[in-house]
Amino acid sequence: MDLKKILEEAILKIENIKTTEELASFYQEYLGKTGKVTDLMKLMKDIPNEEKKAFGMEVNNIKTTLHAEVEKKNKYFEEKKILDKIDNTKLVDLTIPSSKKIKGSLHPITIVQNKVIDIFLSMGFTVEDGNEIETEYNNFEAVNVPKNHPARDMQDTFYLDNGQVLKTHTSAAQNRIMKKYGTPLKAIFPGRCFRNEELDASHENTFFQIEGMMIDKNVSISNLIYFMKEMLTNVFGKEINVRLRPGFFPFVEPGFELDISCPYCGGKGCRVCKQGGWIELCPCGMIHPNVLKMGGIDPDEYQGFAFGLGFSRLAMMNFDITEIRLLNSGNIKALSQAKIK
Ligand code: PHE
Repeated sequence: MDLKKILEEAILKIENIKTTEELASFYQEYLGKTGKVTDLMKLMKDIPNEEKKAFGMEVNNIKTTLHAEVEKKNKYFEEKKILDKIDNTKLVDLTIPSSKKIKGSLHPITIVQNKVIDIFLSMGFTVEDGNEIETEYNNFEAVNVPKNHPARDMQDTFYLDNGQVLKTHTSAAQNRIMKKYGTPLKAIFPGRCFRNEELDASHENTFFQIEGMMIDKNVSISNLIYFMKEMLTNVFGKEINVRLRPGFFPFVEPGFELDISCPYCGGKGCRVCKQGGWIELCPCGMIHPNVLKMGGIDPDEYQGFAFGLGFSRLAMMNFDITEIRLLNSGNIKALSQAKIK
């Protein structure tokens, strides 16, 4: 029996194998339970004793050689599979422009808030934080609105089960800030406020205010007018005139409504200012002595002014937004049109 020839034939066959299926049947044919090489072993008993050893070694050699060849071919098929896959994968063209991403933008309120904060910081004010959930004391009593005072009806309040309130105005932080810093004091405190309002184009139950407070010796209404005029001229990017009309708020005495010359027509009269030339903008006044006292400040020695500016209002005027509900709508398409001026 020519074992050499059997091996040569088998190797030639393997070389010509083109598929994994062919390789599997080759394996069966030679190395399987009833395969040719296995059968050779069975012939052992007919081989003369003195040749048995050489025969056995040769058959074993065939067996390990073929095993190694099959293994080699298998590896080749596996690698080929991967290479074929790579070949068939579309190449990535890094020069193609990427699909357009939608960019976010700052909310109109945030834009105006940042502007106002920057201006007040440059004038030496600090920026304070206020709570959204407040004690009744801070929201009302500490700003001179005792229990059962009719002024409480001016603000429809959301009361919580624990007796606290959603702050109805940024003035709720006045007392805490006075106690924290004492005198002299120059602070602004922006924040979100809540009132149980019926919604319409100019009323929201959630809105933004910024409160400002300056307390020192010899502070007067002139200081109030100066700072407001300075801030508004900066916000609108043009000279703004202000005027004060009497207004009532329990925490200021005297109290005012501050009007600004119409930034659209410069005061000549237009649709926005209803031909009057002035627009009502923000309540303000000289801090009531009771409020100073409750904040631990001696009203005989110190005076101060305070104002409460509605950010929603200011943002609407700045960006020509006519519908207040848009501000809380999350309507990105509309809101992202507000650009920093
Ligand atoms: N807290 C008042 C309001 O929201 C506004 C205000 C603040 C008035 C400061 C005067 C002084 O209605």
